[in-house]
Amino acid sequence: MTRIVLLPGDGIGPEVTEQARLCLAYLSERRELNLSFETHDFGGAAIDRHGEPLPEATLAACRAADGILLGAVGGPDWDDAPARPEAGLLGLRAALGLFANLRPARVIAGLEHLSPIRGDLVRGADILIVRELTGGAYFGTKTIDAERASDEFAYTREEIERVAHVAFAAARRRANRLTLVDKANVLATSRLWRQVVGEIALGYPEVAVEYVYVDAAAMALITNPRRFDVILTENMFGDILSDELAVIPGSIGLLASASTGTERAALFEPIHGSAPEIAGMDVANPAGAIASAAMLLDHVGQSEMAFLLRGALDDVLSSGTLTADLGGGASCSEFGEAVRTRIDARLCRVDAVRS
Ligand code: NAD
Ligand code: IPM
Ligand code: MN
Repeated sequence: MTRIVLLPGDGIGPEVTEQARLCLAYLSERRELNLSFETHDFGGAAIDRHGEPLPEATLAACRAADGILLGAVGGPDWDDAPARPEAGLLGLRAALGLFANLRPARVIAGLEHLSPIRGDLVRGADILIVRELTGGAYFGTKTIDAERASDEFAYTREEIERVAHVAFAAARRRANRLTLVDKANVLATSRLWRQVVGEIALGYPEVAVEYVYVDAAAMALITNPRRFDVILTENMFGDILSDELAVIPGSIGLLASASTGTERAALFEPIHGSAPEIAGMDVANPAGAIASAAMLLDHVGQSEMAFLLRGALDDVLSSGTLTADLGGGASCSEFGEAVRTRIDARLCRVDAVRS
């Protein structure tokens, strides 16, 4: 039995997570994958029911899970709450030691027109951002009074080393290119990042390493996306650049992520937020959540099924079934249903080849 914990969360979180769950359940049934699902309260929904965004029972279930599939958290209802939903997300990342956040994006051949950027620029773009997820300004000491506020922005050598190894290993599986994005012309933390990454690079001689300042990287990412393969960067730069990354394939609704770390449990979530203005309307794009489910399948040792699910997702997008964010008329649930139809077609093809 493979235990999957679902944390639908807030806003469009439950809608997109449900489509991803249905895809996993469908695959599980058809191929006897033995996936089990349990849903837990998290984020604003947990504040409403339990008074806190990350209840003890939710955390315990996550620790025991083989994989966690999260929707999104946050929204205007809780912006002034004493503990915000977002604090639950940061608490979960910290509690599970999820220091490496992988955010891939690629432009499917033939779908260049979905990008607001010129097709000749985005054609063939295939980028993985490896974002450090449990350090930096997000987790440093914070102070605030009426006159002054501060966020400590610190990194240790060990924090840099462990995520750098994840990024170099990923580069080795991909195109053997790694770009460290930093602000080493200003920040002491960035100078330590450069030093440590330079040392670790010696152990990966096949990987070509480049160093780019974050301001220049923000521009290059959309003017020359093919320049990048793996981008390694600290927590906040990675947060900002990954939303920008979403512009390349055309919508933030497409992007998935995997967070792994020191414990067995790993977390999979689309990179978008709870999009409160479209919540409950069945119009959100569930592709990022479904692609996150594919990353979860890889994590639990079902790489063949992960490949098939990604293929089905690409089939649907290529067929022109698109949600409103990409200019289409499909609803969230129709898109999910179309993915399951393509899963079925691909499974039948595999069976036909084998028999
Ligand atoms: P957002 O990602 O929710 O939305 C940004 C824009 O993208 C909006 O126009 C939205 O409609 C659109 N969008 C996002 N996901 C979409 C999808 N799947 N399909 C179609 N359109 C989509 O970011 P925001 O508006 O800055 O934040 C809203 C709330 O979400 C805030 O409370 C924020 O803190 C939270 N948030 C949570 C996460 C998370 O849970 N991981 C991530 C980012 C933001
Ligand atoms: C993300 C989100 C979170 C982050 C917020 C909601 C805390 O923007 O996962 O990208 O900043 O890490
Ligand atoms: Mn973000």
